[in-house]
Amino acid sequence: MNNLQLNKEGKLHHFITIEGLSKEILTEILDTAESFLGISEQPVKKVPLLRGKTIVNLFFENSTRTRTTFELAASRLSADVLSINIATSATSKGESLLDTIRNLEAMHVDMFVVRHAISGAGHFIAQNTAPHISVINAGDGQHAHPTQAMLDMFTIRQYKHDFKPLKVAIIGDILHSRVARSQIQALNTLGVKEIRVVAPKTLLPSHVEQLGVKVFNTMEEGLDDLDVIIMVRLQKERMTSALLPSEQEYFKCFGLTEERLKLAKPDAIVMHPGPINRGVEIASSIADGPQSVILQQVSNGIAVRMAIMTLTLQNKGDSV
Ligand code: CP
Repeated sequence: MNNLQLNKEGKLHHFITIEGLSKEILTEILDTAESFLGISEQPVKKVPLLRGKTIVNLFFENSTRTRTTFELAASRLSADVLSINIATSATSKGESLLDTIRNLEAMHVDMFVVRHAISGAGHFIAQNTAPHISVINAGDGQHAHPTQAMLDMFTIRQYKHDFKPLKVAIIGDILHSRVARSQIQALNTLGVKEIRVVAPKTLLPSHVEQLGVKVFNTMEEGLDDLDVIIMVRLQKERMTSALLPSEQEYFKCFGLTEERLKLAKPDAIVMHPGPINRGVEIASSIADGPQSVILQQVSNGIAVRMAIMTLTLQNKGDSV
């Protein structure tokens, strides 16, 4: 996978997964995003870095945050953006993914941003597209959501400055979460002190500790002395059997409440990739409270996606 993402000089050309990427590459993304942060605050929110480039958003699965922040990121870099409406596209007439890609390639596009319910879809497109085209994975099945993980790392660095001393917990449906997988890879690569996962046994992948995390099955143990709390929602759309008694029972045991938040450090930040389910994994008073950085994550998504688009498009693939 790593070879596919990097060109012959070892530079990022596609962005499909965090797995196999070096600390230097992740840090370059974070530093580049930092330099783009101010653009969204300017009266004219545009720079000409990707003028003349054409970016295609291909979202085969629903999205609010990822699709819109990719669109905004591309337009702030002055690229031309096409967001294909899959529901009204020829996909509904039986056109294959590969044929859709071939037809869009014929329109001389430069980048595909792809969200798909099937794990590996982004990898498949990157393998089958023209070498000059970059592919960004905007979430594939249960596999990976690497741009989300990078905006989460950016937000952690913004508030905590240094990854090294941090204790971070990811809490919730780890089993079905592509975000959690990408976050664990990024946190390990960036070298945090401790990564915890907190979930009922039914919502943990088997052998999860092999990912380099400590496992906790109660909030009372898992929240103790944390610097960063990352909540993830129950991904009901990916559950094929009843893994929980009820949402009310889940909230009672694993919901983040004001009382439980006190177990973490007083300056702990509360994160969530969204969409949030109030009263299921997180109390409203926490989601909207002073320790929540959930909307800051969304804002940071623009600068981080600008960085990933710029870095990948400046590095060509096989043709280099
Ligand atoms: N975090 C995230 O991927 O949200 P969307 O599904 O709204 O894009």
